[in-house]
Amino acid sequence: MIRRMIRLYGTWSAEYGLIRTHVLIFCSILEKSHKSLIGLTHRVSMDPSARIYSRFNLHLYDIVVLVVSNAWAWRCSTTSTLLPFFHKNLGESAHLDVGVGTGYYPAKSVHPFSKTGNVTLVDLNEATLSTATSRLRHAGYKGTIDEVQHNVFQPLPESLRGRFDSVSLFYLLHCLPGRMEDKGPKVLANLADALRPDGVLYGATILGRGPGVSHNWFGRRLMGLYNKKGIFGNADDTLDELKRALEGCFEEVEVKLVGVVALFEARRPKMK
Ligand SMILES: C[S@@+](CC[C@H](N)C(=O)[O-])C[C@H]1O[C@@H](n2cnc3c(N)ncnc32)[C@H](O)[C@@H]1O
Repeated sequence: MIRRMIRLYGTWSAEYGLIRTHVLIFCSILEKSHKSLIGLTHRVSMDPSARIYSRFNLHLYDIVVLVVSNAWAWRCSTTSTLLPFFHKNLGESAHLDVGVGTGYYPAKSVHPFSKTGNVTLVDLNEATLSTATSRLRHAGYKGTIDEVQHNVFQPLPESLRGRFDSVSLFYLLHCLPGRMEDKGPKVLANLADALRPDGVLYGATILGRGPGVSHNWFGRRLMGLYNKKGIFGNADDTLDELKRALEGCFEEVEVKLVGVVALFEARRPKMK
């Protein structure tokens, strides 16, 4: 009996050790690719939250974030939670996607976009804008696509104000530097300006801590690494602070937690 238990323990610890080793290798590849990227792009003045998305890293993004991290670190499935949530709120005639990454969500929305005449993409990083545009085009979207290189901490250009039925910001807020109580109200107020009066702003963000937010071992490793490098700025982001920031800008707010990810919808922007 004791021998069997020792053998079982041996097998378990070997398997656990193997998983741990794979995760550590994965983290160190990310760390190395970030270091080489800083070396290559040190002249570009961009926050690390946007600078990390070089064309090379965008090739890895879907597998690293949308497949591996969403399933095992953040426990919020891309295909069964985030993509249906993206589809649910899409507006009829014009949609604005902010913080576009590889353009996965718009490109997977060509059918729901069939009546949407315009999709506008806003991002600080030019590489993400061109990647997302060509992906959306290749997926078969027939309407107009506008690219706007813009920092969400700045007010939107006049041409984008009051135009959109829906504004999405998926995995943007947790990348931005600063506490939610500072960055949230600024960024949400800027983006609320893009909405028509009956429009909806919605999105998803990874939380750092607080009631209901419990990171697993893999999540804690990634959170530590990304926050140290400035790729994330969410160590202190809580659900309450997110809700407060949304309620400061909108009359109607809904927020729910899946894994460690907050999904939010906000309607009826408050007058400034
Ligand atoms: C984690 S990616 C999210 C990509 C995509 N929405 C998704 O969920 O897969 C964050 C995106 O936000 C952009 N970004 C970061 N900081 C920004 C800023 N200050 N203004 C505008 N875009 C920013 C990055 O360039 C990147 O494309």
